[in-house]
Parts: sequence; C-alpha cells; structure tokens
Amino acid sequence: MTDVQTVSATHPAPGVLSRIFRTEQDGVPGDGHEQVVLCHDRASGLKAIIAIHSTALGPALGGTRFFQYATEEEALEDALRLSRGMSYKNALAGLDLGGGKAVIIGDPNKDKNEAMLRAYGRFVQSLRGRYITACDVGTYVQDMDVIARETEFVTGRSPENGGAGDSSILTAFGVFQGMRASAQARWGQPTLRGKRVGVAGVGKVGHYLVGHLVADGAVVVVTDVFEAAVNRVRAAHPDVEVVADTAALLQAKLDVYAPCALGGALDDDTVAALGEAGTTIVCGAANNQLAHPGVEKDLADRGILYAPDYLVNSGGVIQVADEIEGFNFERAKNKATKIFDTTLEIFTRAASDGVPPAVAADRLAEKRMREISALRTILLPSARRS
Ligand SMILES: NC(=O)c1ccc[n+]([C@@H]2O[C@H](COP(=O)([O-])OP(=O)(O)OC[C@H]3O[C@@H](n4cnc5c(N)ncnc54)[C@H](O)[C@@H]3O)[C@@H](O)[C@H]2O)c1
Repeated sequence: MTDVQTVSATHPAPGVLSRIFRTEQDGVPGDGHEQVVLCHDRASGLKAIIAIHSTALGPALGGTRFFQYATEEEALEDALRLSRGMSYKNALAGLDLGGGKAVIIGDPNKDKNEAMLRAYGRFVQSLRGRYITACDVGTYVQDMDVIARETEFVTGRSPENGGAGDSSILTAFGVFQGMRASAQARWGQPTLRGKRVGVAGVGKVGHYLVGHLVADGAVVVVTDVFEAAVNRVRAAHPDVEVVADTAALLQAKLDVYAPCALGGALDDDTVAALGEAGTTIVCGAANNQLAHPGVEKDLADRGILYAPDYLVNSGGVIQVADEIEGFNFERAKNKATKIFDTTLEIFTRAASDGVPPAVAADRLAEKRMREISALRTILLPSARRS
C-alpha cells in the first residue's frame, strides 16, 4: 500500500498549507514553494517529504536528509527551509537547476533498508524529473546507488556506478576560492599566506580545506569535538595548531574564521568574540551559518567581511550537478573555481548597494531566477525548453 499526496502552488489550501505557498514578493519567482509531496509506503515504513521550492532555473536539485525528527511538523519545516536554500545556492552557482530537498523521517542507523530507499526512489521517479535527489545528512553515495535502481533522477552516486563520489573535495576547494577572494577584498592579495586561519570542524570538508590552506602558506589553527578527526589532520599536517574547542579558537587571534561544523555557528556571542579578537573575515563550509536575521548586519557593522555560506560551499552541488551530464572532474573544478569571481562580485555589489554581503548574495540569486525564468515567455517551437 502506497500513499502519495501532492500539494501544488496552483491550488493552495488554507491552514498549514498557507505557510508553504506564501505569496510572491517583488515578483521573485517561487518565493513560496511550488510543490510539496508527502510520501508514505506502509510496507517498507517510508515516510518522506519532497519539497520543490522553485523550478525557475530548471529541475529542482537537492539532497535527501535522513533524520529522526521529533515531529512530522519539524520534518516539513526542515524540508521547506532547506529546499528554499537550494534555490538560492543553485542560482548563485550558475547552475541550470532549481531548488528542492527531501527528508526521510527515521533513524538512518536503525530504519534505513533497501526496500525503503527503493520505495523512496519510486516516489522521486514519479515526479518525472521535476526533482533530482542527492546525498545529505544521513544519506551516502551507497544509498544513492540503491535509489538509482528505481529512478534516473538521482546524483551523488559512487564512482563505480558512474557517479562523482565524495562531494566534499570540491566543496573544500570552493570554500578556499571564496576565502582567497575575501583575502583579495580585505588585503589586496588573493592569498592566505602568513594569515592565521581557524577551522572549526575538520571532518570531510574541513580537513581538505586545511590542506589547501597549508599549501597556500597560512598558519592554521583547528578544533573538533571528534578526536579522530583532529588526529587525522595532525598526521597529515604536523604544523597545524590544535585548540580545545570553538571558544578557544575564537580567542586565537585569527585573521580568518572558517566554520566547518554545524549550522548556526554565527550567533551574537560568536560575532562579539570575533570582533574583540580582531578577526576580519568569516568564510567556511557550514550551511546556514547565520543563527538569526540581523547577524549579517552585526558582522558588517563590526567590519567583519562575511563570505555568504551558500555561495562559498557550492562546490559540492556543482560536483553532483556535473554528474547529471556524465561526471568530468576538471569541468566541475573549473566551475567551482568561479566561486572566486562570484564572491568578489558579491562584495562589490554589497559595497555599492550599502548592504551586507549576505543580502547582496540573495539579491543576485533572485535576479538570476527572475531574469532566466522570464526567458520562458519566448516561445520555442520544440520541446527543448519549456
Ligand atoms: N560535504 C559537503 O560536500 C558539504 C557541502 C556543502 C555544505 N556542507 C556543510 O559543511 C559542514 C561540514 O560538512 P562535512 O561534510 O565536513 O561534515 P562532517 O560531519 O564530515 O564534519 C563535521 C565535523 O565537525 C565536527 N564538529 C561537530 N560539532 C562540532 C563543534 N561543536 N565544534 C567543533 N567541531 C565540531 C564533527 O566532529 C566533524 O568532524 C556541514 O555544515 C555541511 O552541511 C558540506
């Protein structure tokens, strides 16, 4: 027995759905969500939500998060928030892809099984390419291989199955490009040579980032709650300084702070500590770094240059997007290199508009969604582009 319920923007319903389909603001296409699909397969126990925020630029690409949410309401909120974020990330990365995200409700270590993943793959397939899935928290390349047995609309598969593999390699490379651009804007040179850079979280992305920084001649300070992660960095880069925790890192007289662990890393206390320590650049891999609206202004008011998270960490999505065309590492790396130029462009726009870089990034993403989706008013004779 399988249930699927699709709610679409063309027929908004009252109540909970009014939150999903917010009215458009300033003509920004897809400011509310286009479609939210509730998937339930009783036999395998699958409960999933696929949220398509916008297909203004193309099929909605975004990963599948497998997480033990406390309530279904919480899962819905997460799917809505994350899918919106993907629209902005994909737009600024210059991809012909919209924004979507899915959540599977459950404990990935206990509940995940082949039937459930394949059931999920069939729901993805039922959307006929409006949504393309990939890895996220709780899902891995091996899971994408299983999902791919039921749908062609999946990326982030293993290299032996034609996939791009570990996306953290290009994520770290992209963050490094964003940091070089930040250095260019702040000190006039696109290098971290001689600067003190603190990396909070040296997991998949953070440890690759440390490698780029060391090669560039930076003085690197790291912290991580997981001892094995710290030991791996120490073994590869013996000169890296290690501090006990993030509080100690913030006081380590950093020039650059790179949050590479969890979301919400930039709260009021952290920004105050960065200001007191004289840190003038924040550029890291973590998603959703700004803990609440207003932090971006506080950073700017304190003279701290913030490289927007979803811009500088887009190397991973650039990688999985490239896989859709048949993965070519050099082509994907070239695209990720452009994060340098886009970061500089955002800083320039922020200065000329008198707004923080986070606002300038949102505006540029919205501009691209608006302008490119408007091209659809030029009718094509074939079905090449609808
Ligand atoms: N992997 C990617 O391709 C990718 C792409 C875009 C964004 N991101 C974001 O980058 C961040 C890191 O991703 P990842 O793939 O490296 O994850 P990961 O789980 O491999 O690494 C995160 C590291 O942070 C550490 N950590 C957790 N809490 C900490 C704390 N309070 N203080 C210090 N360290 C702490 C963990 O022990 C772990 O080693 C996440 O926010 C993720 O959403 C990752």
